[in-house]
Amino acid sequence: MLVLDGKLAAAAVKEVLKAETAELVKKGMPAPHLAAILVGNNGASETYVASKVKNCEETGFESTLIRLPVDTTESVLLETIQSLNNNPSIDGILVQLPLPKHISEEKVIETIDPRKDVDGFHPSNIGRLVQGLPTFIPATPYGILLLLAHYNISTKGKHAVVIGRSNIVGRPMSILLSSNIPQGNCTVTLCHSHTPNLKELCLQADIVVAALGKPEFVTADMVKVGAVIIDVGITRVEDATAKKGFRIKGDVLYQDVAPKASAITPVPGGVGLMTIAGLLKNTLQAYQNNRG
Ligand code: GUN
Repeated sequence: MLVLDGKLAAAAVKEVLKAETAELVKKGMPAPHLAAILVGNNGASETYVASKVKNCEETGFESTLIRLPVDTTESVLLETIQSLNNNPSIDGILVQLPLPKHISEEKVIETIDPRKDVDGFHPSNIGRLVQGLPTFIPATPYGILLLLAHYNISTKGKHAVVIGRSNIVGRPMSILLSSNIPQGNCTVTLCHSHTPNLKELCLQADIVVAALGKPEFVTADMVKVGAVIIDVGITRVEDATAKKGFRIKGDVLYQDVAPKASAITPVPGGVGLMTIAGLLKNTLQAYQNNRG
């Protein structure tokens, strides 16, 4: 059984990006610049955004973190996005999700200039993804493709079961795995909360992508011997014995599933780190598209 180490694979991606950035700066060009907006102070979001900013620094990118209070109005947030859209020194914009309930995620995503939408969430970018046109691949599915590529895992002709149909992970992942791309060409089954025979479908899968956000949902009796298991879950589960008062759990019961798998991602240390690699690649892509 091969552990798909996201730390190693992300470091490899970041090394290349760092060298490309150093090359730009050496020529007197500005570094790529990512702007992140965080509304409120959700603990998990704080951690993710801090990690994104830190990874920008490590890669030589510029980053700007805009923190807005939890009671920020929708119109103030939309104006903030507009000013970033109009700022030529900003290459990529991300608004960390989830947002407070009084703000429409849909409106926020649609306000981001699609040319700076490094999360790949804008409807026009998702439309391009569906049609196989050049676009920004949402960071987590992109990270998974990069991880599969890093470990030379072949996907062509395989049956992939994706559990979860979110706009951020499950749905774009299902489209990418079925696309005619190097880490695609799978036959894909997209399962969700209304799928009655989930266990039977998972048992037929050569590749399982668990992205439903239910800790330890995928158990050993649901996976075929030799399957590739990609665990996207990162739920904080309260645990008084843990230093921070919680533990991070994936969607897969790792210790039971790992012995049956041919390859598996750990949590933490798997997909989470690859998400940031995907985001950084998109940011450099935006830079090259817009001012390269
Ligand atoms: N919340 C959870 N995942 C993501 C992501 O990939 N991008 C943003 N902006 N918010 C998220």
